[in-house]
Amino acid sequence: MTVGTITQATVGRVKPCALIDLEQHNDERGSLSVVESEWTAGFPIRRVYYLHDVDTGSSRGGHAHRALEQLIIAVHGSFSITVDDGFARTEYRLDGAGQGLYIGPMVWRNLSDFSPGAVSLVLASLHYDEADYYRQYDEFLHDARRRR
Ligand code: TYD
Repeated sequence: MTVGTITQATVGRVKPCALIDLEQHNDERGSLSVVESEWTAGFPIRRVYYLHDVDTGSSRGGHAHRALEQLIIAVHGSFSITVDDGFARTEYRLDGAGQGLYIGPMVWRNLSDFSPGAVSLVLASLHYDEADYYRQYDEFLHDARRRR
């Protein structure tokens, strides 16, 4: 069984983050990309949501999670994700449905520069829980820096 391949163990020095090449089946009819719960990104998928009809000038995210793990895939179009673990910040451009960005706990993220019609598919390890969010950057930074 082929599973997702981690091509970059960390995004710069931002942890825990990783770009994952998805299992792909390509033929003359098109492409099929696979995400298997637990195997592809290492966590059980309990929730799926997607961002669509996003205004190209909008930004999303602007928060971090205490425990949630996510795999974010640009299933259509492209967008940028800035990740910040409280010590380092890196920007990634997701522009292909065959790759996903894993983002673990305690990483502030911001999604921006959506191409027209872009769709961001998010596979998440936990059900929705507002108590898992950091919505204030100062609070996130305080706790993220205390952890190391
Ligand atoms: P939020 O996570 O802030 O979206 P984004 O990171 O894309 O900017 O969520 C936006 C709103 O949707 C907020 O009111 C919470 C709600 N929401 C749910 O009710 N369930 C969910 O699974 C998600 C992801 C959001």
